[in-house]
Amino acid sequence: MPSTAILGLQWGDEGKGKLVDQLCSEHDVCVRFQGGGNAGHTVYPDGRKVVLHHLPTGVLHKQCLNILGPGMVIDPHKLLEEIDELAKLGYKLAGRLVLSDRASITTAIHTALDAAREGDSNKIGTTKRGIGPTYADRYDRIAVRACDLLDKQSLREALERALAVRGPQLGSGAPKAEELVEPLLKAGSKLRPYISDSALVLHEALKEERRVLYEGAQGALLDVAYGTYPFVTSSHTLANGITAGVGLQSGVERVIGVTKAYCTRVGEGPFPTELGKAESEVLREKGGEFGATTGRPRRVGHIDLFALRYVCKLSGVTELAVTKLDVLSNMGELKLGIGYEGHKDPGLPADIRKFAALKPVYKAMPGWAENLGKARKGSDLPKAARAYLRFIEEFVGVKIGVISVGPERESAFAVKGAPKG
Ligand code: GDP
Ligand code: IMO
Ligand code: MG
Repeated sequence: MPSTAILGLQWGDEGKGKLVDQLCSEHDVCVRFQGGGNAGHTVYPDGRKVVLHHLPTGVLHKQCLNILGPGMVIDPHKLLEEIDELAKLGYKLAGRLVLSDRASITTAIHTALDAAREGDSNKIGTTKRGIGPTYADRYDRIAVRACDLLDKQSLREALERALAVRGPQLGSGAPKAEELVEPLLKAGSKLRPYISDSALVLHEALKEERRVLYEGAQGALLDVAYGTYPFVTSSHTLANGITAGVGLQSGVERVIGVTKAYCTRVGEGPFPTELGKAESEVLREKGGEFGATTGRPRRVGHIDLFALRYVCKLSGVTELAVTKLDVLSNMGELKLGIGYEGHKDPGLPADIRKFAALKPVYKAMPGWAENLGKARKGSDLPKAARAYLRFIEEFVGVKIGVISVGPERESAFAVKGAPKG
């Protein structure tokens, strides 16, 4: 059974959660493979707003088994809060959530380090969820892992190992191992039913030909290797993150890359097609562009097709999903980034100084005034919107497979390529 991945192609918040939610009804397993509570995926099952941070969006679908893979970083207290919130909404997870025993654990050490790093002049504008320091500990081989939450001695040893290195960085503010042990053990006892070797669970599911959906978090331009480094998150957000992030050869055939019809970014770092202040405010209000995790106003700009084309190659995107097309109604003439002045290279520069110096070249296209919220097929869209989509598809060289015109489940529809005419 071919598996599907849904990945962000910009700087996150492309509407991945909403599309995963829609596709979950035709999948049996939903898997997160990277990131952690920095994600904020907003969905409206039965009209109520739900924002998921750690949990895969498949938790909203009773038939779906949900996996938090070994590539993730988990804040156990926050995860438990999320599980409780969902239980209050009627979504019970017993028997359908698996947390990898190898996932790295975010503790107060990591959130304190994140906050301390963000205080200095090199700030990244992180979500302050401890993501970077937790991944740093993984690669420094001093991480606490989910399996450690199940055994007092292992947990104490893991915390002491981490604190021997990180404690001095935090100085007198460093938490003590003994303060952390009991709350983490308590969280571990609540999470115990979910913790196991998730790679084996996934292996079984694939063997039984169950339909698997991999839910990306963040976006391609936040990838730790190929994004706008150092203004990135600390995980592999591209398709190549899936295999390592779930612990086995994942065999994804359908890679749906999600892009907004425009572009946003939260936090610091260059954004070549960013709009000026006044124009930003209009689009931010229209699109409700405020962070789902931190509430920060998102920076907004024109769609950057050059960057999209590049990351589609890296992730082997097989179809595009274009979201928030409805937000562009009544915005007058629209601009699409098609390259940068004097930039001949087919890729994006690795050097952040060179990236920051890019001056976009735009293609201008007529906008439309019609409200798109009720569109349910390509031919419902005005001619100018169809032409806009066609230009995106032709420039990027990947067929559009989904168009989204509103936040609700039913307001995205499948198409076989950009609508004609
Ligand atoms: P994610 O992190 O990629 O899952 O995206 P977020 O949930 O952080 O941000 C996307 C926001 O746009 C959410 O508030 C969604 O409800 C909303 N959204 C998703 N698709 C559409 C769409 O097609 N039109 C509009 N107007 N809103 C959308
Ligand atoms: P979803 O899954 C948008 C950004 C932060 C910051 C950088 C590093 O909802 O698309 P981190 O806390 O990860 O160390 O922050 O990455 N960032 C996101 N931006 N959407 C997200 O997730 C993000 N997760 C992290 O704003 O610039
Ligand atoms: Mg988000």
